[in-house]
Amino acid sequence: MDLLEQIKANAKKHNKTIVLPEGTEPRTLKATEIILNEEIAQIVLLGNPEEVKKAAVEAGVDVSKATVVDNKTDEKRDAYADIMVEMRKKKGLTKEAALDLLNDPLYYAPLMIKAGDADGEIAGAINSTGDVLRPAFQFVKTMPGVSVVSGAFMMFLKDKSFGHDGVLVFSDCAVMPDPNEQQLAEIAVTTAKTAKAIVGMEPRVAMLSFSTKGSAKHELVDKVQNATQIAKEMAPDVMVDGEMQLDAALVPEVGALKAPESPVAGKANVLVFPGLEAGNIGYKLVQRLAGAEAVGPVLQGMAAPINDLSRGCSVEDIVNMVAITANQASE
Ligand code: ACO
Repeated sequence: MDLLEQIKANAKKHNKTIVLPEGTEPRTLKATEIILNEEIAQIVLLGNPEEVKKAAVEAGVDVSKATVVDNKTDEKRDAYADIMVEMRKKKGLTKEAALDLLNDPLYYAPLMIKAGDADGEIAGAINSTGDVLRPAFQFVKTMPGVSVVSGAFMMFLKDKSFGHDGVLVFSDCAVMPDPNEQQLAEIAVTTAKTAKAIVGMEPRVAMLSFSTKGSAKHELVDKVQNATQIAKEMAPDVMVDGEMQLDAALVPEVGALKAPESPVAGKANVLVFPGLEAGNIGYKLVQRLAGAEAVGPVLQGMAAPINDLSRGCSVEDIVNMVAITANQASE
């Protein structure tokens, strides 16, 4: 069984409830039909029930097994607004303003999770990453001991000689534009956990740079060197090393030449990029030029699983992300 099939099989066992705020979006509705038929998870669609029904007919799918919740009229709005006010009273959030925010399904979904009415959320087929993440940051927040949320991609390569039988985990490719050294260290440690939990690999984490072990001098190199040191102190059991260039991380001969002492060089399976520019461009290069399947971003560090889709996502991407989110929810 391949990894994605395993992830789906695992999701089936846990029968989690995943809320999809983009309840009238055609790819979301098509994915919902598949998820419900394959019993991967329970689905809550947000939106006006008549509009959801009409959109489903237009998409040619049957989503009658999904629960449809109208976030503009649902009876739980009042209780959710109270939670919101309690959480953000220092920021001056009033009940009226909270009720207004709940008209936006991207706010309603994290509140469902916060209140225990759903286990996870996926959105982003028609909304930007920032609009999906902001409500999640404000009301679901990070897990204990983590200050920064980041986004990992599982890259399924055609060439199985790299990584864990052809699977590499890249991060951060989605969230934190310019992490400082502490944040970069946290990203490395949380990505190692994601790699172990979802891919089942023993992580070997390379902290990427344009320099290998001091071959170049620059403040950007210092940042990656310091982040590597902090990550080692934060998680002594995780195999992490850097700074290193991509070829030193992945190619055994180059790793042996440039970083002969490194336990990671030449056999890395987790790549931590120094910033979002490199990470986001990097995963798309591998996806488009090497034909790798890119699954993600899997958001890590959040107190409950909320994942963001690319607006170019396919129906299959949504099905896969629901299965991954259900797995995260069951951890
Ligand atoms: N982790 C945890 N919390 C965070 C993070 C983070 N990475 N970033 C911001 N926050 C929190 C802040 O602490 C703040 O909390 P508070 O309101 O309780 O004080 C709240 O979120 C809002 O913070 P802002 O600094 O105002 O953040 P802003 O909303 O301006 O930006 C955002 C956050 C939207 C995630 C921004 O960093 C962003 O746009 N990142 C890039 C996303 C993107 O475009 N990615 C590329 C596309 S994805 C793809 O291609 C797959």
